[in-house]
Amino acid sequence: MTDDAAQPPSEMTADLETITSLAKRRGFIFPSAEIYGGFAAAYDYGPLGVEMRRNIRDLWWRAMVQERDDIVGIEASIITNPAVWRASGHVANFTDPLVECRECQGRFRADHLEGDTCPNCGKVGTMGEARQFNMMLSTIVGPVADESGRAFMRPETAQGMFVNFENVQTTMRKRLPFGIAQIGKSFRNEITVKQFIFRTREFEQMEMEFFCHPDNSLDWHTYWKKERLRWHYSLGMRPQHLRLRDHTADELSHYSKATSDIEVHYKWGWGELEGIAHRGDYDLTQHSEHSGKRLSYFDPDTNEHVVPHVVEPAVGVDRILLTLLLDAYAEEEVKGEKRVVLRLAPAVAPVTVAILPLSRNEKLDPTARRVHSILRPHFRTQWDDAQSIGRRYRRQDEVGTPLCVTVDFDTIEDDAVTIRERDSMEQTRVPISGLVAALRERLDALAPSVPGIDEISV
Ligand code: GAP
Repeated sequence: MTDDAAQPPSEMTADLETITSLAKRRGFIFPSAEIYGGFAAAYDYGPLGVEMRRNIRDLWWRAMVQERDDIVGIEASIITNPAVWRASGHVANFTDPLVECRECQGRFRADHLEGDTCPNCGKVGTMGEARQFNMMLSTIVGPVADESGRAFMRPETAQGMFVNFENVQTTMRKRLPFGIAQIGKSFRNEITVKQFIFRTREFEQMEMEFFCHPDNSLDWHTYWKKERLRWHYSLGMRPQHLRLRDHTADELSHYSKATSDIEVHYKWGWGELEGIAHRGDYDLTQHSEHSGKRLSYFDPDTNEHVVPHVVEPAVGVDRILLTLLLDAYAEEEVKGEKRVVLRLAPAVAPVTVAILPLSRNEKLDPTARRVHSILRPHFRTQWDDAQSIGRRYRRQDEVGTPLCVTVDFDTIEDDAVTIRERDSMEQTRVPISGLVAALRERLDALAPSVPGIDEISV
């Protein structure tokens, strides 16, 4: 563990309102279809939000698929044969307890209520009996609008991996243990959706099903707990804001033998960021029974068929993005003024280098454009020439840009520019010929240090 992890856990400084407002003001996240009054718990990502989402997805894919020999990827369809959801248990069991207020007809998740006061109208003792509410969103497929065409939008990406287990194993000639990974949208008709993008009805998941021999599946569960925690550290998430927590028996999902959550110490308390579930042989067995196809692995060493056990790290892109914004947010006083800064790691920051010509000026413009064209192939760049240089530095601080490059009138003469660092606010003059290397060196220095897997205890 790093030194930081030894400190007592401290909650984050930013609250949801602050981040929701920054995200909208600076082009990360907008309420969906805002000109029509928005749409409950739906959000649209703006230019900086999409860049950050891509970074998160790419870092996950790199770590989980491209840098490993034992994991391969797929993309399965969102609208799936309904038989999948009957076999997986989602039709029968993917429910939350719903209660309705007899006074105002407000509906709430029973397990999210404190006491018997209605959070909507404030009346006491007006809540009805809890009933189970299925959270899958459905649609009608095909030209005839009747129940025969009823299909579900997937509530998790995981089932795409189970139903393709045999296709992937045989075409890729995979031997146990191996994993199948997927990134894609999932949909849930969540009852309570009040924490910005923490819980929405449409969200993106990154899931990996790791198929292993039943004899060593618990070891793999431990391995993935550590490995996934390490990955979150590598995004720059502060270790003192993260913990691992094992689910109690009554919290376990219908398929799970054991689950541990990576939790975050948000301003409103500890909350789930990622689940690492031991799903046993539940899914392959269910799909074997329902489809009539034997889903097992033939071990050429022992000449035995085994039904692999599955360990599943599952996390949401949107929830990571929100957590990174909350974790990185800081307010400081600089020369008597408030400075807002997002201390994002360069790997996740939407822009890594901003190019700022000192002023809009036709003498300066060609030099500044030349500098931009030198940097563009190497970094995620942004050109910013509106308003005073001080305001532009503040604006880049607020969106987490680690480095700015200022092109001024001396540049035309001496072919040198100023690098301004987000965190220290230090400014250094460097020649354009060495600019890429100088920027790279500074970005590398900002990358979080990540402990080895053996240094993490779970
Ligand atoms: N296949 C297992 C599974 O889906 P989950 O704990 O329900 O497990 C995994 O979801 C992760 O997906 C969560 O830890 C969270 O990061 C994200 N997630 C789940 N529901 C979400 C929602 N309604 N909105 C945003 N993210 C969600």
